[in-house]
Amino acid sequence: MSDIQAGDTLREWTESARYWEKYSPFIRTMFAPVTAALIEDAGIREGQTVLDVAGGPGEPSLTIAETVGPSGSVICTDAVAEMVQAAERAAHGRGITNVSFRRCPADLFPFDRDSFDVVVCRLGVMFFPDPLSALREMLRVTKPRGMLALAAWHQSDLNPFCTSVSEVLSHYVETPPVDPGAPGAFRFAEPGKLANILRNAGAVEVRERILEFHIEAPISVHEFWELRSATSSTLREKLASFPDAQVCQVAEDVKEDVRGFFPNGQMSFPAQMIIVSGQKSQASTANYSAFTVANGPSDSLVRGDEF
Ligand SMILES: C[S@@+](CC[C@H](N)C(=O)[O-])C[C@H]1O[C@@H](n2cnc3c(N)ncnc32)[C@H](O)[C@@H]1O
Repeated sequence: MSDIQAGDTLREWTESARYWEKYSPFIRTMFAPVTAALIEDAGIREGQTVLDVAGGPGEPSLTIAETVGPSGSVICTDAVAEMVQAAERAAHGRGITNVSFRRCPADLFPFDRDSFDVVVCRLGVMFFPDPLSALREMLRVTKPRGMLALAAWHQSDLNPFCTSVSEVLSHYVETPPVDPGAPGAFRFAEPGKLANILRNAGAVEVRERILEFHIEAPISVHEFWELRSATSSTLREKLASFPDAQVCQVAEDVKEDVRGFFPNGQMSFPAQMIIVSGQKSQASTANYSAFTVANGPSDSLVRGDEF
């Protein structure tokens, strides 16, 4: 991935930040089972120090801060300043004080090696320009025998929450095939792919499991449309090129398609994620300086959607 493409990705997240902040109470509820899986697989407990990478507007940082309690602490990081500011406001609003905030990219932390008991990343690793060097950097700052836990989307056909809007849009605009190696929600949808990169980065005891759950929140079909079309920059960009009447038609089509996922008027999409965890070895001799794997988008394929 070139520096220009990496810059474009961060610009898109910067533009998305205000929508992620607006919907963050719902996003927290929707992905609470994923946070619980990360806490469980990393063995997070009271008193620990935890680093959250790509924490967006504050999760899973704030839930983990409650888990580690006042004798523990969390540092919430993100490459986008507006996301970090949103996370700070969320912590303030919830009265959570054992969490601090740093703006930094996932492959260059301003932290000493061996600093954290646990490093987590929920729905972030798929978007990093070079996931291998980011995972090596996460391991560098993890204490020996400390844990790393990551969450990524499983395959798109198992996740109608993500695909329902883009499927409708594909009836209106040509949709080029997505490059599976480029940053996007489903970059690590293939079981084993992320786990292998974590092993290559130097982690031991690497495990992977599929988390089946429901993405649930007390929102209506109309609110779902608003949330999805606002929080995804690829969807925002496509919709911006449509005349107003066509946007209304797309919205109606999407609402019709997803109605079955709103029993009793509340959202409940079946969903699957891949949870990958691993440990930093006790006597790691790895040199954690970054190096790059070639996985940028090719000319004929495009980046995937993001959530
Ligand atoms: C899908 S959001 C996930 C946010 C949060 N962890 C959650 O689960 O709600 C992805 C986040 O990754 C951040 N991000 C993208 N590229 C990054 C990078 N290279 N380094 C750090 N953060 C990055 C974005 O700014 C965004 O906040």
